[in-house]
Amino acid sequence: MKRQIIITSDGSNSIYVEDLKEHYHSIHGAIGESQHIFIQSGLFSDNLKQQQTLSILEIGFGTGLNALLTCFAAIETAQKIDYLTIEPCPLTDKEIKALNYADILPYPQVKEVFQRIHAAEWESNKSITDHFVITKRKLSALDVILPNDHIDLVYFDAFSPEVQPELWTNVLFEKIFNSMKSHGVFVTYSTKGNVKRALKQTGFRIEKLPGPAGKREILRGFKY
Ligand SMILES: C[S@@+](CC[C@H](N)C(=O)[O-])C[C@H]1O[C@@H](n2cnc3c(N)ncnc32)[C@H](O)[C@@H]1O
Repeated sequence: MKRQIIITSDGSNSIYVEDLKEHYHSIHGAIGESQHIFIQSGLFSDNLKQQQTLSILEIGFGTGLNALLTCFAAIETAQKIDYLTIEPCPLTDKEIKALNYADILPYPQVKEVFQRIHAAEWESNKSITDHFVITKRKLSALDVILPNDHIDLVYFDAFSPEVQPELWTNVLFEKIFNSMKSHGVFVTYSTKGNVKRALKQTGFRIEKLPGPAGKREILRGFKY
């Protein structure tokens, strides 16, 4: 797959996949988008505030930006996070080195942390900081086996339903729903009608929230 590194409006990089005509993030700002959807609307949601430990599932590890932001947000919230991320097509070392997140984000030792996240071996647990343990799995979300009643928060960050319709179906949503604890939170950027319908049919209570720059709304689901 031919991929190209681009710069988004907030100065942070993203990736453009030529064959799919699809970006990894919003062209209006990759960091801004990740921060808004996954950290502010997911990690910082009221449901999860009281918990000292959190189990997060990410669909689509990609550049590692969501993992990096979560790792530092965990220091802010004083939570211990277990982060399971699924990615069948990892970036190359050359692509990872070209990403500028660690040059932009104002966190202590952000370069080392970003490097440790990417250097973590696939299929094993790796402690990145006192607050953050990552497990990267190199396979499709369609093939992963998840434990029941375990996940507190889901970052659903696959390619869009137009490009990957097979990932935005009841089949995968049900697997994810069953893996979540009751009161768990699910966040994603797509508000397409059939995505909302499939999530509702699966059992999620969903709500629309204001989106980041360039996007009117995003979706948040709760398992009750
Ligand atoms: C919209 S990008 C987001 C990536 C990432 N969260 C980030 O911040 O860079 C979608 C990601 O989903 C990955 N992906 C593609 N097919 C997948 C599948 N079947 N299961 C899980 N992830 C998949 C892509 O390779 C890509 O990294």
